[in-house]
Amino acid sequence: MKRFEGKNVLITGAARGIGRAFAASFAGEGACVTIADIDMERATQSAADIGPDVRSARLDLTQQGSIEQTVAEADSAMGGIDILINNAALFDLAPITEITRDSYDRLFSVNVAGTLFTMQAVARTMIARGSGGKIINMASQAGRRGEPLVAVYCATKAAVISLTQSAGLNLIRHGINVNAIAPGVVDGEHWDHVDSLFAKYEGLQPGEKKRLVGEAVPYGRMGTADDLTGAVLFLASSNADYIVAQTLNVDGGNWMS
Ligand SMILES: NC(=O)c1ccc[n+]([C@@H]2O[C@H](COP(=O)([O-])OP(=O)(O)OC[C@H]3O[C@@H](n4cnc5c(N)ncnc54)[C@H](O)[C@@H]3O)[C@@H](O)[C@H]2O)c1
Repeated sequence: MKRFEGKNVLITGAARGIGRAFAASFAGEGACVTIADIDMERATQSAADIGPDVRSARLDLTQQGSIEQTVAEADSAMGGIDILINNAALFDLAPITEITRDSYDRLFSVNVAGTLFTMQAVARTMIARGSGGKIINMASQAGRRGEPLVAVYCATKAAVISLTQSAGLNLIRHGINVNAIAPGVVDGEHWDHVDSLFAKYEGLQPGEKKRLVGEAVPYGRMGTADDLTGAVLFLASSNADYIVAQTLNVDGGNWMS
């Protein structure tokens, strides 16, 4: 029997990148997975590519109605949600003097409010079913320490770490473990975007920031999405039942806490 057979998983922002790798890992371990993303075309393609037990659903984390509808549909289509991975996020970069209100609002709406209210909607279904569950939020090393050009994103990820602590303490009485993962620098389309923004603000050549951050990782390179799957499967498993409200660094040694 596979490790997650009979388990139902909802993963936000899983049309691509780290979330997609998580979807493939849970499906490979026998779970039924819903990929929920604002990019429906890509979500549908990723679900079809991964396999028959993976479905896609439209989700816009900036809209409360969309969160509630997507969670209700996933709950009913899969017959309950055992595991939620709050993975979707937006990134932006600017010096303090150039941050716009629009950028701040978009990042806090998706990364913070989206994480909180998806946790809330899923926790309500888990409590109603009475069988507990696992919630894993995607934080970041950016939530551990500010960075000169990354104020807003860092603040959203610090908020995710804090929400994980409060929700973890509040929901464990219902048998719901809430924990987070803090990746370091993970190569993929997200970091292609980050690299292009650093090129603009720091006058670097395309690809240069990636090379520099990769060289700075004690492990010796940037991470890949597959470097994170072991941690998410562990935190979602019964082996992690006694782990509550923690944020686990999976970053090649970048941060210690
Ligand atoms: N890649 C890294 O280096 C890194 C490092 C630390 C933390 N993280 C975190 O890991 C998670 C995944 O990162 P990634 O690199 O795969 O990101 P990504 O940008 O490749 O994927 C994010 C996904 O979120 C979706 N999304 C965006 N806005 C949405 C909305 N309003 N509603 C629903 N979905 C929406 C996008 O369509 C996309 O599929 C994020 O929380 C990110 O902050 C990434």
